[in-house]
Amino acid sequence: MTGSAPQEPKYWPLKRYFEVYDRSLRDPEGFWAEEARKLDWFRTWDKVLDWSPPFARWFVGGELNACHLCVDRHIKTWRKSKVAIYWEGEPGDTRVLSYSTLYREVNRCASVLKNLGVGKGDTVALYLPMIPELPIFMLACGRIGATHTVVFSGFSPRALADRINDIGAKLLVTADGGFRRGTPMPLKNMADEALELTPGVEKTVVVNRAGIAVNMRRGRDFWYHHLLEDAEASVSVEPVESTHPLYILYTSGTTGKPKGIVHSTGGYLVFNYSTYQWVFDIKEESVYWCTADVGWVTGHSSIVYAPLAHGAAIVMYEGAPDYPTLDRWWDIIEKYGVTTFYTSPTAIRMFMAHGEEWPARRDLSSLELLGTVGEPINPEAWLWYYRHIGGERCPIVDTWWQTETGGTMISHAPGIELLPLKPGSAGFPLPGIDAAVVDESGQPAKAGEKGLLIIRKPWPGMLLTIHGNPERYQEAYWKRFPGAYYTGDYAVKDEEGYFWLLGRADEVIKVAGHRLGTLELENAAISHPAVAESAAVSKPDPVKGDTIVMFVILKEGFEASPALTKEIVGQIRKMVGPIATPERIFFVGKLPKTRSGKIMRRVLKAVASEVPIGDVSTLEDGASVDEVRAAYEALEEEV
Ligand code: PRX
Repeated sequence: MTGSAPQEPKYWPLKRYFEVYDRSLRDPEGFWAEEARKLDWFRTWDKVLDWSPPFARWFVGGELNACHLCVDRHIKTWRKSKVAIYWEGEPGDTRVLSYSTLYREVNRCASVLKNLGVGKGDTVALYLPMIPELPIFMLACGRIGATHTVVFSGFSPRALADRINDIGAKLLVTADGGFRRGTPMPLKNMADEALELTPGVEKTVVVNRAGIAVNMRRGRDFWYHHLLEDAEASVSVEPVESTHPLYILYTSGTTGKPKGIVHSTGGYLVFNYSTYQWVFDIKEESVYWCTADVGWVTGHSSIVYAPLAHGAAIVMYEGAPDYPTLDRWWDIIEKYGVTTFYTSPTAIRMFMAHGEEWPARRDLSSLELLGTVGEPINPEAWLWYYRHIGGERCPIVDTWWQTETGGTMISHAPGIELLPLKPGSAGFPLPGIDAAVVDESGQPAKAGEKGLLIIRKPWPGMLLTIHGNPERYQEAYWKRFPGAYYTGDYAVKDEEGYFWLLGRADEVIKVAGHRLGTLELENAAISHPAVAESAAVSKPDPVKGDTIVMFVILKEGFEASPALTKEIVGQIRKMVGPIATPERIFFVGKLPKTRSGKIMRRVLKAVASEVPIGDVSTLEDGASVDEVRAAYEALEEEV
């Protein structure tokens, strides 16, 4: 952070955004129908919205196809020779796919899928690194009406198996490996472990990326490049009904089991098409780079579907941000002339900690617009980003949304009109989004007062349901404030109407922007034979936003030791994945609980974060707080 005063971003007179927003809320169906007409439909909808709360079906009766929208329609225009994907592998190898090449690859991939017996209504699991085959398989699924479920390649075999089983996928697509910090991640070997637990998977397709040795089981495992030898050059597009599930993506909630969030085709694409334009003000000549992994919703919407639907040129990078040196990302921006750059606050804070000399080595003058997503951004990081990446010239769009919302809900909308920016605030609800901050009883909170964020009207990008569990969908999002969608986030709306997002109000932890449920972590810890009980809480972290701290009660006969800590950490990594690695494990004899037996996470959080504990009058046993605190202090002394 440099010492000089922040330079004010440049504004221009404000009016247009409010006009568009007001109109969108006065007539949401008319507004969204107008937006939907910007897409290609094979059949126009009969009804804009079928709303039987809390289930929304948008553009009912309309037929379209995601792959047609993202690929086919461009190759009928001059965009056929436009770059679709600039791909950069971590070792420095590159691939450039024009829209024509993408069309060819997607068709051949769709043919491979068809030859394997995949068709409309089937679900395909994708466990792939950040290589072009990931979007290619997603689009190919869409082309033939199959639904995909992408599992982030950093998830453990166990997490992969749970998702495959929940969804009932018969086909798994993976790769031999993908590069991360110079070494290939052995994805196929990890998939093999998962396959031991997934009797329903009949076939796997393996992409040859890293050239590492793998076991191929005869009759089950097939190399993608071998299957391509028999592929047809063209496969016709399968029009699907607007509410046909385009994909299912798992995310964490407040129970131990991740939720399969089901997204539609029509509503999801309309919402993303519009919001992408509003937020990123994308132009034909833009070169857009979103640094997320395609395995998260940001990757689905903001790397694949929204940019490609617009015929944008995107950058996709396989590896670690700081490999081989800390200017890798800035090098990529310079190399491809990136104009529009979208990343996470954690990444910004990480680079900030290493100093501005790294971005200063590269020419970042191509940049026009910056974005952030996934967690709150602190004003200090915002200003660093504004100065050292954006050269005090590029507006920053802070975008608030969730896996469930499908696309951005709150942000600035320079594509409509750039309102004055406030570092740390996400801005305003986008058109069509009736967002409000309310108190516990559902009454609007006063300006400047902390409350809970809700959405009071359905929007086209909203999830259809939770896969196989409509009751949980209803319970998790619509029960707390009847008639409104509960986001699970704290927020403040200030006097000028700006929204400030303040983190999760429920038992979800955001580590470096990745979403993890406390129960998921606790179940993973308990699966270790020495653990009787455990509690996971978040602790603020200057770079990652939050880290995980766990409190563990051991079973009789086990003793706390560094070796056991290592084993339990290993068990959690094995069950969930490396992103779930706890920063600390504390061994305690008791956990602070309310008289009704609920763990008082607030108390644990306060102990772990070294802040005052507050009121503990509902606590069952005051001694447990002292013990938790003593365990914490003992460990602090050790270090
Ligand atoms: O707490 C909010 C936080 O991320 C949660 C959603 O996580 P996920 O489903 O993984 O999707 C992340 C990427 C879209 C939200 O409930 N969050 C997301 N964006 C922001 C944010 N918190 C503050 N500011 C944001 N811009």
